[in-house]
Amino acid sequence: MCGIVGYIGHRQAGPILIKGLQKLEYRGYDSAGVAVHDGSSIQIRKKKGRVLEMASLYKSSPVSGTAGIGHTRWATHGETNDQNSHPHLGGNEDVVIVHNGVIENYTSLRSQLQGLGYVFRTTTDTESVAHLLSHHLEEQIKFGSDPEELATYLKAVEITLTKLTGTYGLVVMFRDLPDTMIAARLGSPLVIGVGKGEHFIASDATPLAGYTDEVIYLSDHEMAVLTRDEIEIFHRDEGQQKLSIQTLDQVSVDSELGDFEHYMLKEIFEQPQALENAMRGRLDEDEATAKFGGLNLSAQQLRKIDRIVLTACGTSWHSGLVGEYLLEEFARIPTEVEYASELRYRNPPMSNSTMIFAITQSGETADTLAAMRECKRKGHPTLAICNVVGSTIAREADGGIYLHAGQEVGVASTKAFTSQVMVLIQLALFLGRMRHLSHPAGQRIIDALHQVPDQIRKCLECNDQVKDIALKYSNFNNFLYLGRLYNFPGALEGALKLKEISYIHAEGYPAAEMKHGPIALVDEVTPSVFIVPRGQIYPKVMSNLEEVKARKGPVIAIACEGDDKIADIADDVIYVPDVDDFLQPLVTAIPLQLLSYHIALQRGCNVDRPRNLAKSVTVE
Ligand code: F6R
Repeated sequence: MCGIVGYIGHRQAGPILIKGLQKLEYRGYDSAGVAVHDGSSIQIRKKKGRVLEMASLYKSSPVSGTAGIGHTRWATHGETNDQNSHPHLGGNEDVVIVHNGVIENYTSLRSQLQGLGYVFRTTTDTESVAHLLSHHLEEQIKFGSDPEELATYLKAVEITLTKLTGTYGLVVMFRDLPDTMIAARLGSPLVIGVGKGEHFIASDATPLAGYTDEVIYLSDHEMAVLTRDEIEIFHRDEGQQKLSIQTLDQVSVDSELGDFEHYMLKEIFEQPQALENAMRGRLDEDEATAKFGGLNLSAQQLRKIDRIVLTACGTSWHSGLVGEYLLEEFARIPTEVEYASELRYRNPPMSNSTMIFAITQSGETADTLAAMRECKRKGHPTLAICNVVGSTIAREADGGIYLHAGQEVGVASTKAFTSQVMVLIQLALFLGRMRHLSHPAGQRIIDALHQVPDQIRKCLECNDQVKDIALKYSNFNNFLYLGRLYNFPGALEGALKLKEISYIHAEGYPAAEMKHGPIALVDEVTPSVFIVPRGQIYPKVMSNLEEVKARKGPVIAIACEGDDKIADIADDVIYVPDVDDFLQPLVTAIPLQLLSYHIALQRGCNVDRPRNLAKSVTVE
């Protein structure tokens, strides 16, 4: 949610910033801008719209300078227009900032600053911070601090930060301090790229690829000072910090589109490999269990766990729902799934033997992070199931499991969802084998898991057929998604995929809940997508399907290969391999993802950059 990039070094800053912003665009694409220090003043080029549009503005009027900051915006406060785009100047253009986060007390800051004579040019929360910085710098100098000294500027930043309520990842440059940039973090991620005679800063590591593989993650309440040759980090309470430089895995920042038209399609097709990666080295055939390196809990501690809370947002919350079914079935541990945005402010009774898992692709979702911290504060073992290595949640959790799905660029989550489910299956197997699950039962699960990547490859063969079905249904404006047991979370996820990228209203329900209200929506122009593979309650779901057909509702069924009967009832059928019930959310996810992808394309929507959304939701 908003992407930040900064560069200070020996090369021209503008092109590096623009390239970096293109890589960060998945974090927000309402507007983009750069500020380059030309040695005597700060020059800004910014524009509503995609980075490319700002890049052509920059091309027509480039700025020469080797230090600069850039921003790609997901608007929180203030509409999306050229003026509200970052970077924002403060005072008499003596300071410029880019910001990710939300300044909650910006209205009171704004009126105080207006009272002092500051003129606001935007309706953003960030501009207050820019003017506040300028104000405190002026005050420092007025009371005798040396305008040539870094300490004067640092003090101005420090005082400004104490006046802010909310969250920020921000990078500041001062007109009269051309060879330095200052960054600060509270709640919104920042990572420093360590180079030779040059340094970088960004919201995540993707823009650093190709420049450096050495990074320093900034923590909350830390402030970084970057010059061409030096990096210093100060903690609000603990003073100067020792630099902890980590080496980045270059593979994890590879985000090339290759032969695919869109990242979403590429990532859908990457799922066989992603699922192999999520299993690699984790299945123990001898013991008929799974094993994880990073849980950081002893077998004794794990056996004491008598309740699990899974907390997440959006798609990750849906995989958590699948996890609830799995953990209760395989490990017999009572499990609940909590929206992180609710859990962070609730106070549910939880015994000391409750284990928390935060599930997150990005590892930066503000609500998930806050919920995790809240549980940690109360002393629960708090683990993460996460994709992005080195992300805030991954670093702050007591331990966890990485997905190893590779970078997910498309805003609609696809391979992260199935990888999360794959990890949860293995977690349930692992905890189950510590309790009730027999060796043969564990072995059966492992045997089934080995077949999944090929089964997913098989599912992907339906792409052309799904494209034709999408053509038929792309003009409908309401959809229902229905499934039961393991396929109820799948229905929720299918509906979310459709609405977020095609802007069609879609609702997911447990199929049998239909009769309690939603069936009133069924008519000739409201298709129902039924997830109805063979399994425990297949005949029951078929009855629900018949109920919809009896009311003339069009039905797209996702069913098991060999189920010929369903073709006589449903209007369209997409077949998936016949798998155990607990694997159904994996195989059925593929046609559901493809259906939303092709419908969105038919409707001319931008599937990788759907309106109003961003990949990493770092604000509350
Ligand atoms: C939907 C989607 C979102 C995310 C949610 C949580 O396709 O991607 O609903 O799942 O914003 O994000 P993470 O998993 O990064 O915490």
